[in-house]
Amino acid sequence: MAGASMRKKSNKRSSPDPQQTSMPSPPSSLLSYFSYRYLSLVVSFVLIVCVIVLLSVSSNMWATFGSDAQFDQLYTIEVVNEFPHDPNAFTQGLLYGGNDTLFESTGLQKHSSVRKVALQTGKIESLQKMKDSDFGEGLTLLGKRLFQVTWLEKTGFIYDRNNLSNFKKFTHEMQDGWGLATDGNVLFGSDGTSTLYQLDPQTLKVVRKQVVKYKGHEVHNLNELEYINNEVWANVWQSDCIARISPKDGTVHAWVLLHKLREALLIAGKRDIDVLNGIAWDRDKNRIFVTGKLWPTLYEIKLHPVTKPFHGAIEKICRLMPAHFAKP
Ligand SMILES: *[C@@H]1O[C@H](CO)[C@@H](O)[C@H](O)[C@H]1NC(C)=O
Ligand SMILES: *[C@@H]1O[C@H](CO)[C@@H](O)[C@H](O)[C@H]1NC(C)=O
Repeated sequence: MAGASMRKKSNKRSSPDPQQTSMPSPPSSLLSYFSYRYLSLVVSFVLIVCVIVLLSVSSNMWATFGSDAQFDQLYTIEVVNEFPHDPNAFTQGLLYGGNDTLFESTGLQKHSSVRKVALQTGKIESLQKMKDSDFGEGLTLLGKRLFQVTWLEKTGFIYDRNNLSNFKKFTHEMQDGWGLATDGNVLFGSDGTSTLYQLDPQTLKVVRKQVVKYKGHEVHNLNELEYINNEVWANVWQSDCIARISPKDGTVHAWVLLHKLREALLIAGKRDIDVLNGIAWDRDKNRIFVTGKLWPTLYEIKLHPVTKPFHGAIEKICRLMPAHFAKP
């Protein structure tokens, strides 16, 4: 419709022929007839070209949108800041506590702790050592309370955020304790399976369970969790991937691919590092931080959608299958 009316307008505009007045001699009516024919041909040609270009641009646009809708939503990262991180911290839980402060839970028997860390320097501002037999895991902050779960136990601890004093032990109903996060109302928990739990922060009872799926396939090995902008982000253990999960239905609707961080550390000779683990979100400044177990660096990252065709199999790269080996 728009094309037709444009053509009409252009034809109208081309009809008053300037050459008609400027060239007096030979059969002026014939000349005006030909120049009119010529002009209208040129105009028609230009219009047809315009229509073809417009059509092809819009069909390309639709093709792009169409394939995007079906394509995986993949994100790569840009490192916007690097901060020192304790290379002896076997990071199992990480969160941003405001005022350039992080709270971190570390694992390994005899080395487990909850700590308050200065973001800029990586310095430990206070530390609560756990019992030698305890293996610290996921950590989250709700109000003034830090909640922490432990590995291979159905127990966890609640700490005061100001002095890290451990004032309560609790039991939970997950199979194990791996990750914790909160939206301010419920606690989200993971236990290394494909289940994302929601716990009541008062009773620690499971109020909801969802099987996390990507394109219908269960996503196993869910590890450290963070609640970011209405999504639950999960490190997938033994992978360089973060799954972005909708807490409404447990669907993974996007992946963040962070391979380059661990690869760069290895190239730099940091041979003792373990897996990527630990996500923290500064809600006020919308900063996202990630690190790993025994990593010397903590990264502030920004996400960029992958725009080139992606040929890898996310199922393999992000290790969605259940792991058959014991966690260190
Ligand atoms: C933020 O941290 C600095 C340095 O640790 C401290 O001096 C300041 O009192 C803190 N501010 C708040 C609001 O906690
Ligand atoms: C930690 O702080 C809380 C109040 O925020 C207080 O009740 C508790 O006694 C303190 N614990 C220690 C060991 O200082």
